[in-house]
Amino acid sequence: EIYTASSSAPVNIAVLKYWGKRDTNLNLPTNSSISVTLSQKDLRTLTTVNSSRNFEKDSLYLNGVSHSIENDRTTNCLEQLRSLRQQLEEDDPNLPKLSQWKLHIISENNFPTAAGLASSAAGFAAMVAAISKLYELPQDASELSRIARKGSGSACRSMFGGYVAWEMGEKLDGTDSKAVQIAPPEHWPNMKAAICIVSDLKKDVSSTSGMQTTVQTSELFQYRVNQVVPPRYSQMVDAIKNRDFETFGTLTMKDSNSFHATCLDSYPPIFYLTDTSKKIIKLIHTLNDAIGKVVAAYTFDAGPNAVIYYESENEEVVLGVLFGVLSNVDGWNEMNSATLKVPEGVPLSSLDSTIASGVSRVILTQVGEGPKESDMF
Ligand code: DP6
Repeated sequence: EIYTASSSAPVNIAVLKYWGKRDTNLNLPTNSSISVTLSQKDLRTLTTVNSSRNFEKDSLYLNGVSHSIENDRTTNCLEQLRSLRQQLEEDDPNLPKLSQWKLHIISENNFPTAAGLASSAAGFAAMVAAISKLYELPQDASELSRIARKGSGSACRSMFGGYVAWEMGEKLDGTDSKAVQIAPPEHWPNMKAAICIVSDLKKDVSSTSGMQTTVQTSELFQYRVNQVVPPRYSQMVDAIKNRDFETFGTLTMKDSNSFHATCLDSYPPIFYLTDTSKKIIKLIHTLNDAIGKVVAAYTFDAGPNAVIYYESENEEVVLGVLFGVLSNVDGWNEMNSATLKVPEGVPLSSLDSTIASGVSRVILTQVGEGPKESDMF
């Protein structure tokens, strides 16, 4: 007999970045962070878990490829989920002893892995959501986020939809380091995101090791964690509650820049932004200056891809400018280019056509829901 459950989980992109750990085993961060969950229509991981007393070992398939499950991150998550299940089985001896049985985990992304989009957040969130459903665990999303966090820090934020904070907590055991929802997607439903996939074959320093170098070597990092992030955190929460895009966008851009500055201040320095990334930064500033307010905000994670947040009412001008430089790039099929216009005041000379050669694809998406139970794979 086989027990089975499926769940999907979204990608999230931080607007106040997590960078630095105070505990590398438990993934406890040196600052709280805030993110927007993106729509699963465009970006999600779908995970099915099967359990049977006949399975000989735990196994994991990602996009059809077998992966080892014997890494600390996955093991930490599985151990904790099994021990929560075991408590249920001790309370109710009629329950099947799933905690003792091996798991077959099958996981698939609906977006190309080659896009270079970090998928570990959605991956661990989907795995934790699917297993907690299989095990019929009573824990709520915040409690489950502490388990997902041990897989990958940013994964804890993918346990919620909408606008999400990861509260760093202060306890050594990490029990207060968890995700909470600031606002559901309906609160600010017109938040859109254009993801520009920057084609760059070079493998960057992974976020896990990059942040360790920063913590150990950057003085600027101390300043960021102690002076910059704490006030910014409450300003960002207020901006989200008030749907204040001017403040939200300004803080998002400044925080991305602050995080990448600590990377440059690391020794040896870490470079995630490429020339193409920098050209996109300039383009967005040119657009905002021409309009006279912040209508678009860029942010970059541990790689060169740009995520540009904007409100749907400004789609014409934001995508107009992007389309102005990226019209040949994949991802525009659903847009009617006739409705897109480069706004007056944006000098055509700023529409640097060399950006297009650095961008391989654009994914248009928006704020979305948290993990969903799924019947089918
Ligand atoms: C730049 O969550 O990938 O995307 O906890 O080591 O798995 P680990 O790191 P990870 O780091 C994400 C860093 C970031 C910023 C963010 O998402 O907040």
